[in-house]
Amino acid sequence: MRGIDFIQVPTTLLAMIDSSIGGKTAVNITKCKNIVGVFYQPKLVWINICFLITLPSQHIKNGFAEAIKYALIFDRKFYTYLKKELINGFIKNFDYIIYKCCFYKVQVVKKDEKEISGVRTTLNFGHTFAHALEAYTSYKKFLHGEAVIFGMLFASLVSLKLKLCSKKTFKEVKQILTLLDFKLNVKINTRQLLNLMKKDKKTTSGEH
Ligand SMILES: NC(=O)c1ccc[n+]([C@@H]2O[C@H](COP(=O)([O-])OP(=O)(O)OC[C@H]3O[C@@H](n4cnc5c(N)ncnc54)[C@H](O)[C@@H]3O)[C@@H](O)[C@H]2O)c1
Ligand SMILES: [Zn+2]
Repeated sequence: MRGIDFIQVPTTLLAMIDSSIGGKTAVNITKCKNIVGVFYQPKLVWINICFLITLPSQHIKNGFAEAIKYALIFDRKFYTYLKKELINGFIKNFDYIIYKCCFYKVQVVKKDEKEISGVRTTLNFGHTFAHALEAYTSYKKFLHGEAVIFGMLFASLVSLKLKLCSKKTFKEVKQILTLLDFKLNVKINTRQLLNLMKKDKKTTSGEH
């Protein structure tokens, strides 16, 4: 009657590096996204990379996209490492990648568990656009990580236009998209997409 303790056993790369840790996690049911969830911290997160042996490559790339998010936000060296892995065409050092991502997520969650101070929102890089893109395509066309890569590119483009990021940074983000071989392939009605973006949790006073 007062909730139950639980442990998380993530079996996808994305869940191992993101959705299984930090509390405030949720799962999708039927047509609703992230609709059933918990704010509580698990007693334990048990990450076993053996699960990844059977995970389809598309889902490996999906998780890898979120790993790139952490690297772009926090760690240039890690970013260079991930880029090299992509250029070589294989991802092998899962324990290192997972450790790095969990380390950064934990640092942020420790500072702002309930997303009050705003520190935790740094982890939402690219997510306003990503969530809108996923909703726009009825959650059928893109995996979450794929949408996040497009979202980060979009956020970087907006930053470039506002002179908040350099052309070099924008080009780096774009290169990752090419290396991952993600294709947008969808006609977007800008107004509809903007309306979806306005519904995002990060909207403040009706503005972004
Ligand atoms: N709430 C959060 O904190 C948070 C954060 C990030 C993502 N998400 C959401 O999580 C959802 C995606 O979850 P996901 O990426 O973990 O994928 P998933 O749970 O949808 O699994 C993807 C597919 O892989 C299969 N699968 C899972 N593990 C496998 C394994 N080890 N071997 C073979 N097949 C396996 C599943 O059956 C499924 O068909 C997205 O909707 C995303 O938006 C939530
Ligand atoms: Zn995400």
